[in-house]
Amino acid sequence: MDKARIKSFVEHIFSDMAGAMTAGLGYVGVQTGLFSVMQGQGMMTLDRIVDASGLQPRYVEEWLKGMVCAGYLEYEPDRQTFELPDEHAFLLASDGTDHFAGAMFGMAPALLRVAPQVAESFRKGGGVHFDDYGDEGIEALDLINRGNYENRLVNYWLPTMPDVVANLESGGRVLDVGCGTGRAAMIMAAAFPESSFNGIDLNRESIDRAKVMASEKGIAGRSTFQVAAVEELESSPSYDLIMAFDCVHDFSNPVDTLIEIRKRLKPGGTFFVIEPRAADKLEDNKHAVGAMFYGYSVFHCMTQSLANGGPGLGTCMGPARTESLMREAGFSEFTQLDIKSQVNLFYAIG
Ligand SMILES: C[S@@+](CC[C@H](N)C(=O)[O-])C[C@H]1O[C@@H](n2cnc3c(N)ncnc32)[C@H](O)[C@@H]1O
Repeated sequence: MDKARIKSFVEHIFSDMAGAMTAGLGYVGVQTGLFSVMQGQGMMTLDRIVDASGLQPRYVEEWLKGMVCAGYLEYEPDRQTFELPDEHAFLLASDGTDHFAGAMFGMAPALLRVAPQVAESFRKGGGVHFDDYGDEGIEALDLINRGNYENRLVNYWLPTMPDVVANLESGGRVLDVGCGTGRAAMIMAAAFPESSFNGIDLNRESIDRAKVMASEKGIAGRSTFQVAAVEELESSPSYDLIMAFDCVHDFSNPVDTLIEIRKRLKPGGTFFVIEPRAADKLEDNKHAVGAMFYGYSVFHCMTQSLANGGPGLGTCMGPARTESLMREAGFSEFTQLDIKSQVNLFYAIG
């Protein structure tokens, strides 16, 4: 055995455990508002941070020290002051923007909570149902996606499909399959007042949230949300645009569901799919995002599909598998859209 390799690998393991704990500390920083309290304030004493946050001093002190060790905060030993650099605040205290990386921390508690059940599923099969991730899972997903949907969907992503935008402007019918809390459909409903939007999802809690949000935003008339599978909708080609954001890889019966989607798309209509960014070959996914996505897959995406007897396509399905599923379902056009993103792939299908 190579002793140097053992030594370097134990450092790797420490660093991974540090990452897991830092994700937990990051989650606390977002949830308690500590990152926001420190944003743009320069060097701060512990007392000032406690006063500004209204949080318990001993907890704040330990959190600050942990975040210094993790490299998130600067520390000045002589004055014992702490600073959140502007560049870090840009990513950690920026809820609502498309650069709010702090949103990702929510996935750690939401997913690792089910680690014992997932380990059991390795032995017995089955998995963890989507509904079992509860409110925390729904909120974590919503927080991760909403900044991008609010800032990029209408301004950047849709304009890569000029015909789709023209149709939405003149008044199209849109179906969002696996709509979750309905965030994407509602943003589009606000931007395209001539169009109507129907969101469906199998998760009741997500749909309840969507209905409340739609009525608060005053768009309930043009956007409806229902707990339903695609096959429960009228089987005629009635939609100009069908969207499936971050959910095709979750489907329990992917090809059958895609066939049902195709039947409801008007001739010349577009099926707009967003999937996690992953390469087709494992060796091309050997980086931080790849490792994170395989974790999401084992602790969520794959397992919730296997729990329903599905194939467990997983988070890292990749473009080749996506295209073959679409062709198997009878779609004849498949285009990967030229949209820059570190975490997503975009497809226009017809
Ligand atoms: C990762 S979430 C994405 C939610 C939302 N599209 C977003 O981007 O925030 C996947 C969603 O797909 C839903 N889902 C999975 N399979 C479905 C199916 N066959 N029909 C409808 N919804 C489905 C889940 O309930 C879940 O809300």
